[in-house]
Amino acid sequence: MKLAPQLPAVPQDRFGRPLRDLRLSVIDACNFRCGYCMPADRIPDDHGLDAAGRLSFDEIETLVRGFAAIGVHKLRLTGGEPLLRKRLPELVARLATVPGIDDLALTTNGSLLTAQAHALRQAGLHRLTVSLDALDPPVFAAMSGGRGEVGTVLEGIEAAQAAGFEAIKINCVVQRGLNEDQVLPLLAHFRGSGHVVRFIEYMDVGTCNGWRRDQVVTSAQLRDRIAARWPLRPLQSQYRGEVAERYAFADGGGEVGFVSSVSAPFCGDCHRARVSADGRLYTCLFAGEGHDLRPALAGGAAALADHAAALWSRRGDRYSEIRSQPQAPRKHIEMYLIGG
Ligand code: GTP
Ligand code: 5AD
Ligand code: SF4
Ligand code: SF4
Repeated sequence: MKLAPQLPAVPQDRFGRPLRDLRLSVIDACNFRCGYCMPADRIPDDHGLDAAGRLSFDEIETLVRGFAAIGVHKLRLTGGEPLLRKRLPELVARLATVPGIDDLALTTNGSLLTAQAHALRQAGLHRLTVSLDALDPPVFAAMSGGRGEVGTVLEGIEAAQAAGFEAIKINCVVQRGLNEDQVLPLLAHFRGSGHVVRFIEYMDVGTCNGWRRDQVVTSAQLRDRIAARWPLRPLQSQYRGEVAERYAFADGGGEVGFVSSVSAPFCGDCHRARVSADGRLYTCLFAGEGHDLRPALAGGAAALADHAAALWSRRGDRYSEIRSQPQAPRKHIEMYLIGG
């Protein structure tokens, strides 16, 4: 009898959580300087331009094949700003054919989308998430650290729609006193478009943003304000561990989502791994240390799969559930190194 080749078992972490999603940063640079992520007074303009330190396309493809072999079926490309990575559509085309990856998405700030949306779609990208914190031009410019123009991003979203992307997710991080007043205008703009706006609680990621709890506008507060204007009805989640809570506009205007990682942590169902552009594995958005995957990667997809499975099985992260407790780790990786 011929034996099937031995595949590594699908790993579970110390809390029994399987690995399902991989979020892969393709570049550590960004052309924005959002205050909640990469404040301009902390991160120099030329940050992250060292191309030699990044995984090559060959290495990225091998890495994704390895992760797919141990249960990853959902892949999200992120940055920094992923559209700054040269020849990105070529990489997307390679990753779209990896067996097991049935959901291939990308998170972008939208500033370079007009030029690239069509090529990304043609390359096989399934889904798109665009960060958009304000519609008002001065507020948008301030939120992006004086780097972005809202008109360019809106144009990029239209180009993406024309290229065939449907139900684009529009992510807005809400900070008290900065862009709270943009919530209703954003919804008024996108209601009825088929795109889905999601409001994200401002988090204490990284080490640069000077986070304070009183700057967080909770999802419950936002939901009440929105429902007073457009009545809402809760929707069932689409899959176990879905990050956003979804609500439908009762008048049929589509839906809105809330990501409540501060007021209602969702670590219990967290099946996400993150890999930085230089090939380090982070088992939590708030992890202090990454694990260098390059040595295992040099041995090919099977060696990488074994190594990643072993690392995942030792995972015990649940930062959002313990952030106020004394044992919560204080050292955090920067979010621009591992994406959203
Ligand atoms: P879909 O695959 O479209 O459902 O996307 P998603 O909602 O899983 O991912 P997205 O990257 O759009 O998540 C939105 C935001 O939620 C991110 O930018 C983060 O701010 C936050 N977020 C996502 N995943 C996690 C997580 O594992 N932990 C925490 N604390 N926050 C997360
Ligand atoms: N809090 C919440 N979300 C953040 N992001 C970056 N920094 C933060 C933060 N401090 C997320 C946003 C953004 C994506 C790229 O990363 O969702 O749209
Ligand atoms: Fe850049 Fe995104 Fe961070 Fe803003 S949130 S600075 S767009 S990586
Ligand atoms: Fe997952 Fe860490 Fe976020 Fe909790 S805080 S949901 S463990 S990434």
